[in-house]
Amino acid sequence: MTSLSAPRVATLAALFLAMTAVSGCTTYPGEETTAPPAFAEPFAPIDAARQNAEMGRGVNVLGYDPVWTDPAKARFTPGHFKIIRDGGFKTVRVVLQSFDHMDSSNQLGPQWLGTLDKMVKAALGEGLNVILDEHDFDMCGKDAAGCRVKLNAFWSQIAPRYKDAPGKVMFEILNEPNRAMTPELWNTQLHETLAIIRSSNPTRNVIIGPGNWNGLEQLAVLDLPADDQHIIVTFHYYHPMEFTHQGASWVEFTKNLSGVTWGTVADYARLNKELDQVKDWSVAHSRPIFMGEFGAYENGAMADRVKWTSAIARAAEARGFSWAYWYFDQGFTVYDIDKQAWVEPIKNALIPPAN
Ligand code: BGC
Repeated sequence: MTSLSAPRVATLAALFLAMTAVSGCTTYPGEETTAPPAFAEPFAPIDAARQNAEMGRGVNVLGYDPVWTDPAKARFTPGHFKIIRDGGFKTVRVVLQSFDHMDSSNQLGPQWLGTLDKMVKAALGEGLNVILDEHDFDMCGKDAAGCRVKLNAFWSQIAPRYKDAPGKVMFEILNEPNRAMTPELWNTQLHETLAIIRSSNPTRNVIIGPGNWNGLEQLAVLDLPADDQHIIVTFHYYHPMEFTHQGASWVEFTKNLSGVTWGTVADYARLNKELDQVKDWSVAHSRPIFMGEFGAYENGAMADRVKWTSAIARAAEARGFSWAYWYFDQGFTVYDIDKQAWVEPIKNALIPPAN
């Protein structure tokens, strides 16, 4: 390892500052840090049901944004949190694909952490509830043992880092456990990772969903620690996949579909039956429910997407579920970053204009 003398560090720092000033780079050395962020408000525990009621309507953000690898190419900027808040949303689910940003010892680097801190603080500054969602479901679905190491490493770093963050910050252990991470393995994994989180955050609300892609059918076998009441349960709703994922390249059995419609009496009946199933589970297990993803891919007809989106959102609200729409700016777009404008039909389906 080469050691740097103090004057040499100062010279390098000055050079770096000058370079970023010239390039107009949007991160600054001060944001690249491993030190935990300071928050304006201290942590105070919030009853899980109360927090879920406060979460209300939300949206998924940031997951696939270039900001994580090259801040100069960011599409989503901190200013979007104000647009989201002014648009009527109360929660953001921050989608974190962190595994690719770990070093060989599974440590997250200063730039990635600095970007996360900046975004979390900006969202809190707008009064939004913020979910930190570990979203490496694809890797976890292929290699449950490898996932275990990285997932535990992630929460071993992020939970202590955010232990003093206000209660509006919640942790979601893992998006959509699937395939190799079977519902049985997931039950073991969630207990193990939750214990890691609880050693620094004993009363922060943690979001946990069932196995098989957070499918509602798997709620029946989800095993949660009975003595932990700071848990909000999540599920994802994309039924019927043939409608919501028609033409979506990443889903084998729907990628070649098009022209699939939605909105028959039977379609509404299925929706109500399935969401009733979730509600029944929620009452029986005394756990609040967050519908953390739902959306219809933009290959479907807009009129039907609007009908579906509005029906799902209202059906969730009628049952007391909070929700987050998938997704802010890609594929299921509710906000067009290129035009810096809401996609009005989807936005209005999610948040009906007053009157
Ligand atoms: C995935 C996205 C996908 C969406 C709908 C999310 O959990 O991260 O890649 O577009 O689900 O299929």
